[in-house]
Amino acid sequence: MPKPSHLWSGRFESDPDQTLVDFGASFRFDRRLLEDDVAGSIAWAEALAAAGALSEPDLLTIVRGLDEIRDEGRRDPAFVDGPDEDVHSFVERQLVERVGEVGKRLHTGRSRNEQVSVDIRLYLKRRIPALQIRVARLVAALALQAGRSGEALMPSYTHLRRAQPVLVAHFFLAHAVAFKRDHGLFGQAREQADVLPLGSGAIAGTNYAIDTAALARRLGFGATVSNSIDAASDRDFLTQFLFACAQAMVHVSRMAEDLILFTSEEFGFFELADAAATGSSLMPQKKNPDPLELARGKAGRTIGHLAGWLATVKGLASGYNKDLQEDKEAVFDAEDTVAASVAAVAQVVTTLTLNVTRTEQAAAGLSLATDVADHLVARGMPFRQAHEVVGGIVRSLIAEGRDFRSLSMDEWRRFSELFDEQVRERVSAAASVAAKRTPQSTNPAAVRHALGDLELWLSSLSPGQ
Ligand code: ARG
Repeated sequence: MPKPSHLWSGRFESDPDQTLVDFGASFRFDRRLLEDDVAGSIAWAEALAAAGALSEPDLLTIVRGLDEIRDEGRRDPAFVDGPDEDVHSFVERQLVERVGEVGKRLHTGRSRNEQVSVDIRLYLKRRIPALQIRVARLVAALALQAGRSGEALMPSYTHLRRAQPVLVAHFFLAHAVAFKRDHGLFGQAREQADVLPLGSGAIAGTNYAIDTAALARRLGFGATVSNSIDAASDRDFLTQFLFACAQAMVHVSRMAEDLILFTSEEFGFFELADAAATGSSLMPQKKNPDPLELARGKAGRTIGHLAGWLATVKGLASGYNKDLQEDKEAVFDAEDTVAASVAAVAQVVTTLTLNVTRTEQAAAGLSLATDVADHLVARGMPFRQAHEVVGGIVRSLIAEGRDFRSLSMDEWRRFSELFDEQVRERVSAAASVAAKRTPQSTNPAAVRHALGDLELWLSSLSPGQ
């Protein structure tokens, strides 16, 4: 392997210590930025030429060399390797090796501090849409299950105790809308990355009359930075990206937890497809939800990337500090983790089957107590008093191992004169959901409407999403 001539070899008498070179190198992981580094460098060379700082023939030579490096990197990923400190030095070394001395003109007026920022901004701009597609596919899987379950009923839970009956579709849509928000969070992170930092130099700006607005347009950026010191330090767009990843993984984890519970023998609301479960090496009867557990577990490391990154930047003095190099492993691993986990849970969701006998059995019974209280309210009793009365009914039903439906009219009236025949129609899970009146409720018409809205949103996404 060729020994790199160090980027700063003019300043130092001796070579740097190899252990420390290895310690400082980021090429092992920032090689993912090759495409972006080349794109940024081509545009930079053009901007230098437009500013009169690079001749046309030199520009053509440099662009040809950079094109070759990109093409070779695409053809042969093993090519993107070497003793270089980082992807920027790799590209520059390759360029000089290919086109000779002219290659050394590329870095005029530019610093790696802004180069690394522009690279990772370009990277996120092109990669975030792929994550959004995966998130949208998960939303589509949840919408599919919501549609399939029709007006099937299940209990909802607060404090993990049976609360009130809901449509199974309402449960699936609850998770779907959370992931739809995550789709938006990724969009916001992308917007924040969509700002060109080039022209900032190492920290104070550049001595060449670079048309930064034209350069931004050329690279597809929507805006340019407004302060070169801030540009060297700013990684807020990465923080926002890591937050979007952590938030999405928290949603993945909470949905996984629900599904782990609801597919257990104790609940038995859904059945995992054989292909989405694992067996036990010892216990022949086991059907384990490993993919869901692993996705739940991976939320931890994603949250760790966000927390670790915030700790990394909190004490930094203004301008570039090498600490910032820690951004890439966090970002790349968070990205990979979200991509894999979201795809895995989407697969599990798509293949779930509903055990409607179990969910509807669990949805009936004492979770209709609020509806009974509302019946008394409809007959004029203040809600607090109705709550007392129904609490008493529940207490005696529990003692006798009965539910509301077994009460005779006489028994109802013993608890309150205000009970009439209609109360018996109210004490079903179907009547309970039908009695809900607000758009966000589990009323079947509202849920149909919500599902329609979600499907409309899904179809509004650009093709492929
Ligand atoms: N590898 C560095 C990083 O990821 C690139 C910028 C290096 N700049 C510097 N002044 N050492 O942050």
